[in-house]
Amino acid sequence: MARPSGWLQDNGSIAQRREILIGKLLQFFGLERRDHLRIGHRQFRLSNYTVVAIKTGQLARRFCRKGIIITQQPLTAFQFHLTHWGRCQFRQPIANNDETPGIKTFRLVNPTGGPVPFEFLPGQFLTLAVAQAGSTTKRSYTIASSAEQRGYVEITVKREEKGVVSRYLHDRVAPGDLQQVAAPQGRFTFTGAEADGIVLIGGGVGITPLMSVVRSLTDRGWDKDIFLLFACRTSADFVFREELEHLQKRHPNLHVVATMSRADGTAWMGPKGRMTKELITQWVPDIARRRVHLCGPATMMDATRAMLLELGVPGEQIRTEAFGPAGSKGDRQATVQAAMVEPSPATPVVAFTISSRSAPLPAGTSVLEAAEHVGVAIDNSCRAGTCGQCKVRLRKGSVTMAVQDALSPEEKASGIVLACQAQATTNLEVEA
Ligand SMILES: Cc1cc2nc3c(=O)[nH]c(=O)nc-3n(C[C@H](O)[C@H](O)[C@H](O)COP(=O)(O)OP(=O)(O)OC[C@H]3O[C@@H](n4cnc5c(N)ncnc54)[C@H](O)[C@@H]3O)c2cc1C
Ligand code: FES
Repeated sequence: MARPSGWLQDNGSIAQRREILIGKLLQFFGLERRDHLRIGHRQFRLSNYTVVAIKTGQLARRFCRKGIIITQQPLTAFQFHLTHWGRCQFRQPIANNDETPGIKTFRLVNPTGGPVPFEFLPGQFLTLAVAQAGSTTKRSYTIASSAEQRGYVEITVKREEKGVVSRYLHDRVAPGDLQQVAAPQGRFTFTGAEADGIVLIGGGVGITPLMSVVRSLTDRGWDKDIFLLFACRTSADFVFREELEHLQKRHPNLHVVATMSRADGTAWMGPKGRMTKELITQWVPDIARRRVHLCGPATMMDATRAMLLELGVPGEQIRTEAFGPAGSKGDRQATVQAAMVEPSPATPVVAFTISSRSAPLPAGTSVLEAAEHVGVAIDNSCRAGTCGQCKVRLRKGSVTMAVQDALSPEEKASGIVLACQAQATTNLEVEA
C-alpha cells in the first residue's frame, strides 16, 4: 500500500491533543479506531493512544502499522513529537524569486494537490531535511507567507557563502523537486489575539517571521496598529520593500519604517544608522505599553532588547527569535576541540544511555557538542535553542540552558532538555 501523505502538528493543549491526534491519525493515514499502534514490542489500541503514552512513557520508535514512521523521539504524555515529516514540492513562486541580492523566496505546495497538509500560525517555521552526499542536514525556515491562505507556503532564504542548506536551496533546487519538511513549529507567533497592537522589529533576513505576521493580519483586515521597524545595510537589502509599500497604502494601521546602516553615498532618503531608542520612540507612540516581537542577528537583538527595557517595555512583553548561535561555526568547533583535549579529573561526564557512550562535558560545552565529540547522533538544526530538533530526555543530573524557547512547560516538567543549550557542572545521564 502506498504511504499516505500528510502529517501532523502540535498546537493544542494536552487536553485537546488526544482527539486531535487520533482524528488526524485516522484522517491522514487512513486508519480506523480499532487499529493498533505498536510501541516497541507492545501493541495498543489507537483510541487509547494518549492514555497509553501517559501511563508508560515508552520510547516509541516507530508507528509500525503500514510501515509509517511517526516519531523517532521519546513519546511521553507531555511530549508528543508531532513533528512529522512529509513531502512538499517546490514551485516557482513568482516570475523572479530574487527578493534582494542573496535572498530568494521559495514556494512549497502539496505534491498531491489541494491545500498544504498542515496548519500554522504566523511566525512559525518549517524544518527542511536536505540529503546530499550521503548525509542529511536539517535547517529551519520561517514561513514568511500569510497563514490565511493554505494553497502554498513560502520561505525566504538568505544564501550563506559556505552554508550547506541555503546554498542547496539557492543553487540546486528546481520547480517540481520534492522536499522533506517537518510540520510547522515555533512559539514566536502573533495572531492578533495576544495584544491590542503589535511592534515588529527585524534585522536582515530576520524580517521573515514578522512578514508572516504582517501578511496574515492585513489579509484578515485586523484593524489595530502594526508597527514594523526594519534595519538592514542598504536599500538593496530591503527585503519585501515593494510589497510593504503597497500594503501600507492599503492598510493605514500598518506603519513601516526602515533604517540603513550603510546608506552614505546611496539615494536612500529615510533614517540612517542602526536601530536606536530615538528611532523607536519617534515611530512608536507609548512603546512601554506595547508587545514587541524582535528577530535579527544576535548582536542587533541584544542591543535592541536592552533599548526596549530602558524605554520601559516589560521583559515579558518582548518576544525574540534567534536564527542561529552568536559567533562563527569554525570558532566554536575550535573552542570545543580545545576544551575536549585534556579534561581535568573534575570535569563532569555525560553518559548517553541509548548508545552506551560517554563524553567529558567541560565548562561552556553543550551536551550536543559532547555527543558529537564521541559520535553520538542527536538531531539538531539551529543550535540556538529555537528549533527544538535537539530535544533529549535528561535521566540524571541537572543542566542550565541559556535559551529554552523550544520547550513547553510540560516538556520542561518531564525532563526534556535542549542538547544544544544544556550545560552542566555535575555528571549527567541523557537518553541518546
Ligand atoms: C527558527 C528559525 C527560523 C529561521 N528562518 C530563516 C529564514 O526565514 N530565512 C533564512 O535565510 N534563514 C532562516 N533561519 C536560519 C537557517 O535555519 C540556517 O541556519 C541558515 O540558512 C544557514 O544554514 P546553512 O546550512 O546554509 O549554513 P550552515 O552550513 O549551517 O553554516 C552556517 C554559517 O557558518 C558558515 N560556515 C559553514 N561552514 C563553515 C566553515 N567550514 N568555516 C567557516 N564558516 C563556515 C556559513 O558560511 C554560514 O554563515 C532560521 C533559523 C531558525 C532556527
Ligand atoms: S538545535 Fe535547535 S533547539 Fe537545539
